[in-house]
Amino acid sequence: VAAPPELQEKTLVLVKPDAVQRRLVGTVIQRFERRGFKLVAMKLLQADRGLLDKHYQELLQKPFYPSLLAYMTSGPVVAMVWEGYNVVRSTRAMVGDTDSAVAAAGTIRGDLSMHISRNVVHASDSVETAQREISFWFQRDELVAWESGDRDYTYGP
Ligand code: TYD
Repeated sequence: VAAPPELQEKTLVLVKPDAVQRRLVGTVIQRFERRGFKLVAMKLLQADRGLLDKHYQELLQKPFYPSLLAYMTSGPVVAMVWEGYNVVRSTRAMVGDTDSAVAAAGTIRGDLSMHISRNVVHASDSVETAQREISFWFQRDELVAWESGDRDYTYGP
């Protein structure tokens, strides 16, 4: 039986190049797995400027954009799509404040990083943004539809 639509909300998470270099990929994945979210797509890739200009289209004119682009193209990233109830908001809460220096302890950024320019992960900030971002990073057929056997234990009947 397919999950109801509210359990199929999706978000894009990127493990940024600093975190790949620091061997934090597994740690980041583990946080979302432990929460109970379902992984539906994942790949390691070297992002190029065209992709990042789309991904960060709201930030193109910001003074920090050139250094953000240099950072995000400095090495591979791991792109993932996570699915589950309220996943966009929950994931943003788990990731923490954009500025690692003020991100709460217990969040990914608050536990694993110190500075806004090297903040370990990206997570989409709304359901609409998530849908758009997922389409930039993944082909439709790269998302795997699968039913998790623990659904009655994570959501109730
Ligand atoms: P933004 O979309 O505002 O934050 P978030 O990643 O939390 O959604 O900014 C995108 C990235 O740009 C952010 O993760 C780190 C970088 N950035 C800077 O390097 N300096 C800045 O002053 C800001 C606001 C962001």
